[in-house]
Amino acid sequence: MQTVVIDCDPGVDDAAALLWAMAEGAALDLAAITVVAGNVPLDWTSTNARRLATLAGRHDVPVHAGCGRPMVLALETAEHVHGDSGLDGAELPPPASELAPPHAIDRLIDLAHAHDGLTICAIGPLTNVAMALVKEPSIASRLGRIVLMGGAIGLGNVTASAEFNIYVDPHAAKVVFESGVPIVMLGLDVTTQVRPTPARLDALRALENATSKALADMFDLYVSRASDGGALHDPLAVAYLLMPEAFRGRDCHVEVVTEGVCRGRTIVDVSGRGGRLANAFVLERVDGDAVFQRLLDALRRLP
Ligand code: RIB
Ligand code: CA
Repeated sequence: MQTVVIDCDPGVDDAAALLWAMAEGAALDLAAITVVAGNVPLDWTSTNARRLATLAGRHDVPVHAGCGRPMVLALETAEHVHGDSGLDGAELPPPASELAPPHAIDRLIDLAHAHDGLTICAIGPLTNVAMALVKEPSIASRLGRIVLMGGAIGLGNVTASAEFNIYVDPHAAKVVFESGVPIVMLGLDVTTQVRPTPARLDALRALENATSKALADMFDLYVSRASDGGALHDPLAVAYLLMPEAFRGRDCHVEVVTEGVCRGRTIVDVSGRGGRLANAFVLERVDGDAVFQRLLDALRRLP
């Protein structure tokens, strides 16, 4: 069984990812959830992660608050997509647990030392992950991999060049992509292949449990607000942990632009002609139906 920590900024699609992971206890040892500012400020993301753990009956999973702003730039958030709370649209229970000590950065370092080959599943801005690598560089050789939702081979979703997670903290993303840790990158090219269509949201509601109803209610609002109609961005990172065979990709060198009009762009050398060593396995294709079916099967197990 793989030991995983999810670093997130819930956020509606983060909610789907967290609920999925918390329902897959037989396959994933979810050691902790760490939260970062991103879709909404840290106060909301750290509350939302605990509300979701309570909803899923998994408040055994410790939630650690991390960085409230990017490494260098000012925080930019996405309430226009996820709502002021970050999880608008659903009635969620209050958190049954308090935030766990220590700070997310220190928890990531502790877990990397405690678990050889730890997987970090990063589905928000990479500030916590980068700061852990800066504070304790030795963890780079201990981590198994970083599976991250972020970036794009093609167009962005915040600017023409940049995807949100990388755009918010490009300096953190640069640290992560240059860390030497094995990276699996799920960019917009693959995540936008799996949409929360009306048929899929109907199938979600048909599960008839409180968790799935709450998630469907959140997605209804998210779909209406997201400029591109929304996508299952973050759940695909969990899908890769569980069913990598549903994906296709290639090893590429990825460079992160930190300044200027292309801030947050991931320059993915798909052809390999740049001559630089690949630093990421970049996913390009996914069997969306197979992924969504496994998500439904998992959510069926929740309260
Ligand atoms: O661009 C999509 C990503 O940005 C997702 O992780 C979403 O939750 C937001 O954080
Ligand atoms: Ca996210």
